[in-house]
Amino acid sequence: MSRKTTVQAVNEMLAPPDVAVQALLQMRAKENRHLEHGLGVQSTFVSEDIGTHAIFLESVKELLSRNGMKTPGWKRLVRVTEQGVNHFLPAASCDFATFIRCVTFHIWVVGVLNPDGPQDGILQSTDLSVEQVTNVFFGFSETGGTSVTPSHLHSTLKRWITCDEDAHCNPVDLIYPMCEKLWRLVAATVICAQRCPVSKNPLLDFCDNPTERQFRSSRSPDHGPSAADIINEVLRVHPPVQEISRPYGLPLWQTLLMERVQMADIKAVQEFDREGERIQEPQEFVPGRWQSELKPAIFAFGDGPLKCPAESWAPAFAALITSKVMDRVNGVGHKLEQISHIGSTAQYCWEEWVIRKALAQ
Ligand code: HEM
Repeated sequence: MSRKTTVQAVNEMLAPPDVAVQALLQMRAKENRHLEHGLGVQSTFVSEDIGTHAIFLESVKELLSRNGMKTPGWKRLVRVTEQGVNHFLPAASCDFATFIRCVTFHIWVVGVLNPDGPQDGILQSTDLSVEQVTNVFFGFSETGGTSVTPSHLHSTLKRWITCDEDAHCNPVDLIYPMCEKLWRLVAATVICAQRCPVSKNPLLDFCDNPTERQFRSSRSPDHGPSAADIINEVLRVHPPVQEISRPYGLPLWQTLLMERVQMADIKAVQEFDREGERIQEPQEFVPGRWQSELKPAIFAFGDGPLKCPAESWAPAFAALITSKVMDRVNGVGHKLEQISHIGSTAQYCWEEWVIRKALAQ
């Protein structure tokens, strides 16, 4: 395995100048076979076919444009988000990450995938609940396995997601891996805002006024970071996709030189700025660094021809969910608590947190 950690090396690996898109798709499909067998994913993430890529990308772009910040879809999404957060708040307490997974899934399905349904729609448990379904996806991402069969998952999702009569519509494709990446960004942002006081107010301002302008505005008079700066810094320090691998199908003599599997280490490369110099205290969470002229390098959404089409939409959507969670889990009605410090084996910043109903004064 050849690990890429510099801006130039990651850029060359993800956007190689002399490799056709078809070959990139082949490599990604090879790396993602397990998604097909384990979950029943059929989209471009597991396909070598250039036509499948074009059709899927077009449908994703259409989905996103219907929910852009200046559309009626976004206004509906704001209300679905408020209702989704309320719906999953616990009567006593619950695991924080599980809560964020359920809320994000609910908003994605009710708000984005069912635009004509009621905005206060509830995803009724069938044989699997929302929590169980999100656990299947999360467990699969972490371990590569699940005890639920793809057809079981498919039949549960089919009841919640209205697909067109289009024969290609596969509900798993509309959930994974999009939702799986999104909730991680939301969870990390809530925790970073809890730990870093300068992050709270820009997100709460965005909660009250969830517009494009507010998302990018610094707070006067202190000119602190905007909500967009905070999300960028979370993506830099806690990228939901930590590595991207490509099994380069090169001739044998070249693989001896280059090593067959190349891996872009996203977290490591984001310790540099766009000109390739190491930034100051790269492991510290400092949203204000996004206000400098020379920005940190960001590869959280990939690079090159297979770069994420949600790059400019997902940050605002994640900020919306985060801000509405912060507004309700504010220490008055519900509060966020860390449950263990000593000897912690936590791999992610959002582990070992719970949401508790605050006791009445
Ligand atoms: C925080 C949220 C997200 C992150 C961090 C993220 C990250 C990424 C990354 C790293 C890739 C490149 C994969 C590769 O090179 O193999 C990618 C591709 C992709 N993402 Fe996202 N993504 C996010 C959310 C979404 C959402 C919400 C959608 C759908 C609406 C989406 C749709 C896609 C698609 C369709 C591709 C494949 C692009 C192509 O093949 O040309 N992503 N994403």
